Amino acid sequence: MMPTMRPVVIAANWKMNTTPSDAAELARTIAGRTRVAGVTRVICPPFVCLASVRDALVADDPQVAVGAQDVHHELAGAYTGDTSAPMLDGLATWVIIGHSERRRDHGETDERIGRKLGRAVDGGLRPILCVGEQLADRDAGRAFEVVERQLGGALDGHDAARVAAARLVIAYEPVWAIGTGRNALGSDAAAMAEAIRATLGRLGWERAGEVPILYGGSVTAANIGEFLAEPSIDGALVGGASLKPDEMAGIVGRAGITAAARLSAIS
Ligand code: PGA
Repeated sequence: MMPTMRPVVIAANWKMNTTPSDAAELARTIAGRTRVAGVTRVICPPFVCLASVRDALVADDPQVAVGAQDVHHELAGAYTGDTSAPMLDGLATWVIIGHSERRRDHGETDERIGRKLGRAVDGGLRPILCVGEQLADRDAGRAFEVVERQLGGALDGHDAARVAAARLVIAYEPVWAIGTGRNALGSDAAAMAEAIRATLGRLGWERAGEVPILYGGSVTAANIGEFLAEPSIDGALVGGASLKPDEMAGIVGRAGITAAARLSAIS
C-alpha cells in the first residue's frame, strides 16, 4: 500500500481581532505573502468579517480557505448571539471547534463540543477540533489522560467513518502555551500527537494515521521549525502571530519545506 501523505496545514485564528473594514486587506496581504506550494492555508476571522474575507480571497487567492471560529450545537432557535452551521453556508468551509478560550469563557463541555462537531460534519464544514491540557495537568503528569478524555468526550457517539470523511483535523493546544509566549517543546507536542492517534485507534478509527494533527500555542516564524521537524505534526493553528504578515510569511514558508520533503519522500 502507498504510504499516506498527510497535508501540511497552517490555520490562522484571528480570535476577536479585526473589523469588517480592515479584515479584507489583511487577508489579501497574508494570502499574497504565503503562496507556497503544498501548504493548505486557512484564515479564521471573527464571524462579522467572514463575508469580507471570503470576498477578498475569492477575488485574490481562492486557494486560501475561510474558517469560522465556532459553530452552535443546534441548527436554529432561541440562542441569542450564536451562529449555526446553516448560517455559515457560503461563508466558511472550515470551523474551529472546542478552542480552550471557548471552553473557558463559554463553559463548553466535551459533550457540547461533540454536538458542535456533529453540526459541522452535517453542514459540510471541515472541523479543527482543539484539545489541550492546563498547566496543572501537565505538572501533575495528567496531560495525556486529559487530552484522551477530551477526545473521547467529543467523539463519543459519532460514526468515526463519517467524521473521518469530513476530514477532521485535530489541534493540540496546551492551554498554558496559548498567548503566553511560552511554547511547548516540539518533542512533547510530537509525543502528544502520537498519543492522539493511538486514542483515535482505540475509539474505532481505522485510519487514525491519516488525521492531520496541528500544534498550537505561541507559534511564531522563529519556532515553527521545531514543530514541523516532528513527522507526527502536520502544521499549526496560529493565534497572535497570524495577524502579522511577516510572521505568517515565515511560518508558511517553513511549512512549504516540510510539504516538499513529504512529497519527495513518497515519490
Ligand atoms: P497563540 O494562539 O498562537 O496566540 O498562542 C493559538 C490559538 O489559540 O489557537
